[in-house]
Amino acid sequence: MEKKTNISISLLPGDGIGKEISKESKKIFNWIDNNTKFNINLIEGLVGGESIDKHNTPLSEETLKKISKTEAILLGAVGGPKWESLPFNIRPERGLLKIRKDLDLFANFRPAIVFDSLIESSSLKPEIIKGLDMLIIRELTGGIYFGEPRGVKKISENNYKGFNTLVYTTEEIERIAHIAFQSAMARSKKLCSVDKANVLESTELWRDVVNQVSKNYPDVELTHMYVDNASMQLVRNPKQFDVLVTTNMFGDILSDCASMLTGSLGMLPSASIGTKNDGICNAMYEPVHGSAPDIAGKGVANPLAMILSLAMMFKYSFESNNIYILINKVINSILNKGYRTIDINSRKSKVVSTGEMGDLVLEGLNNEKI
Ligand code: IPM
Ligand code: MN
Repeated sequence: MEKKTNISISLLPGDGIGKEISKESKKIFNWIDNNTKFNINLIEGLVGGESIDKHNTPLSEETLKKISKTEAILLGAVGGPKWESLPFNIRPERGLLKIRKDLDLFANFRPAIVFDSLIESSSLKPEIIKGLDMLIIRELTGGIYFGEPRGVKKISENNYKGFNTLVYTTEEIERIAHIAFQSAMARSKKLCSVDKANVLESTELWRDVVNQVSKNYPDVELTHMYVDNASMQLVRNPKQFDVLVTTNMFGDILSDCASMLTGSLGMLPSASIGTKNDGICNAMYEPVHGSAPDIAGKGVANPLAMILSLAMMFKYSFESNNIYILINKVINSILNKGYRTIDINSRKSKVVSTGEMGDLVLEGLNNEKI
């Protein structure tokens, strides 16, 4: 075998189903460690509710320091009803947002790809979604999620004011626009930028800057769309899109919408990437779905979005398109054979548990020649 390459990865299972699906991802990491050139040093840490219970904070400085020294992070999900009544700044979600912000992971890639065998699981007609392969690029460290001022203030007795600020600077828009144009160049050279420039000044700036940046990419066909129209178009005719770029909050909403085109939120992976900064982690991978407290602990969650996120990690962080393709191929064939977790269950399928689905992926990988 060729010489081993040492890589370090953080695994942050988080809350709810995060733990169950992380267990399945670990099986895949082990397989990669044993069967490919990669020698994986896996570091585990706490984030979200679990970290609150143990350390009184959704992400300890120690954990942040530890994970920032690894090359890539795989995160399960955070949050749950147990922590919903906590003060805002120590809720589980703040842990996730802190990682994104502190590591400057500003470019979030959310592909929505329809597996042929799951066409039946979508609530849309087969002809609308068959062959869909689009990429949502969401700005992840700016916009209304992080803008100041923010808060809830008392105005008078029984009357409060809650406020957030939607801020974007030219530089923030430029860097995400460049990423979007480069992604479009590598695909079908079509880019749609989504904003609300008819109402919000900050997204009027967004549109102007995207237009400016487009001058560097004359081969890319750029269109602009208002977010309300884009959400309608996504459901009406999703295949008109190839690469879509948008702000933090619009991207949050549109990517949930796009996920249902693929059959289930349980199938969507994501990658959040920052600028290469020597010695500091510049990538985190996570399923788009949340911690699903309603089904947590029952062993029925779908581990595939997290395993597909792991596959993206090998493609983007470790330049191993082979592992990416291999995992996707194995998952495709499992689905073709009719195996399904309950979220993607349909009439003729064989329902399997979280652990069984992980084992099927493992078995599929073992049967592949590498
Ligand atoms: C997502 C999630 C997060 C977000 C939450 C958990 C903070 O919904 O990754 O889409 O809003 O970004
Ligand atoms: Mn979301």
